[in-house]
Amino acid sequence: MSDIGKSITQFIIEQQRVHKKSTGEMSGLLNDIVSACKKISHLVNRSGIIGIGGAAESENVQGEVQKKLDIITNDVMVDHLNWTGHLAAMASEEIEEIIQIPANMPKGQYLIAFDPLDGSSNIDINLSVGTIFSILRCPEGVKDPTVEDFMQKGTEQVCAGFCVYGPTTMMILTTGKGVNGFTLDRDVGEFILTHPNMTIPEDTAEFAINMSNQRFWEAPVQRYIDECMQGVDGSREKNFNMRWVASMVAEVYRVLTRGGIFLYPLDTKPTTKGGKLRLLYEANPMSFIVEQAGGVSSTGYQRIMDIKPESVHQRVPVILGSKNEVERVMGYHTE
Ligand code: AHG
Ligand code: MN
Ligand code: MN
Repeated sequence: MSDIGKSITQFIIEQQRVHKKSTGEMSGLLNDIVSACKKISHLVNRSGIIGIGGAAESENVQGEVQKKLDIITNDVMVDHLNWTGHLAAMASEEIEEIIQIPANMPKGQYLIAFDPLDGSSNIDINLSVGTIFSILRCPEGVKDPTVEDFMQKGTEQVCAGFCVYGPTTMMILTTGKGVNGFTLDRDVGEFILTHPNMTIPEDTAEFAINMSNQRFWEAPVQRYIDECMQGVDGSREKNFNMRWVASMVAEVYRVLTRGGIFLYPLDTKPTTKGGKLRLLYEANPMSFIVEQAGGVSSTGYQRIMDIKPESVHQRVPVILGSKNEVERVMGYHTE
C-alpha cells in the first residue's frame, strides 16, 4: 500500500515502531518541531498583516542585521522545544551561546541545532524562506551539555530536516533511511506525506551560485562555472540553466525535486571568508538530507559530514546536489 496521504504523525510513529528499543523520545521531539514549524508557517504567512515584517534594530552573533521574524521564529522554536523533556540543550543561528533547558524542566537525550528562519532576506520580497534543523545525541552521562557536546561530525546526526514556507509549506525529513516530503494541509493543520523516497537525479544541467561573488572564487569553481556558461560551445557540450533564490531551503528543495548543483564555495570575500553557510545548522543537516537522497555534499576538498566542528557558528564552503556534477567539481579541486 502506498504511504502517500499519511499524516506526518502516523509516519513518525510507524517508523518508531520499527526500532524495538525506541522510547518514543525522537517521535516526541519531531512532533514538537512539527508544531513549531506550523506556527512559524502561520506567522510568516501573516507577517505583513500583523506587522512583523522588516528589520529589527539588532544584529546576530555573525554581525548580520536581524529581521523581526528572525527573532520571533527563534523564540517560537525555543518555546516549543524547551519544556517537553526531549532535549538536553539547543543551538540557534540567532543566539551566540548554546541554549540551556530551564532548570525547572525535564531534560532529554537529544541536542538540536537550528536555523529558525533561513533566507530571511527574502521575507520582505515574498519569496520562500524556511527552518532547518539537525538532531544529535547528547553524549552519554552528560547532564549539563556544553559547546563541546555539540562538536560532533555530521555523520553523527540521528535526524535532520527542513521546512520550506513557499507557495505550499513543506517539511522534508530524514532519519537516515531515505528522505520523505510532507505538505502542510492548512485546513486540517497536518503535514501529509506527498513526496515519499525523494531522490536526486545523478546528472543535471542546472547550477545555483551567487554570480556576484565570482571575482572572489577559487580557480576550481571559476573553471566549473565557466564551463557551464560556455554551454554547447564549450567542453561540456551542453547548455546549463541557472537559478539563485538566496534561500538555501528553496535551493535544496529544488535539487531534491529535479536535480541540480548548489554552490556557496570558499571565497576571498572579506565578510564570508571560509564560506558563508554555517556547518551545524545549515551545511550538516542539508548534507545529511542530500546524501540520503543519493546526492553528494562537499566543501570541494572534503565531505562536509566528516568535518569535526570547532565552534557553534563555524562557516564552511558548500557544494551539494547531483552526484556526477558535485564529483566533477571535487575532481577540479584535487587536480
Ligand atoms: P540566513 O537567512 O539564515 O542568514 O541564510 C541565508 C543563506 C542561505 O539561505 C542562502 O543560500 C545564502 O545565505 C544567500 O546568500 P547571499 O545573499 O550571499 O546570496
Ligand atoms: Mn540560513
Ligand atoms: Mn537564518
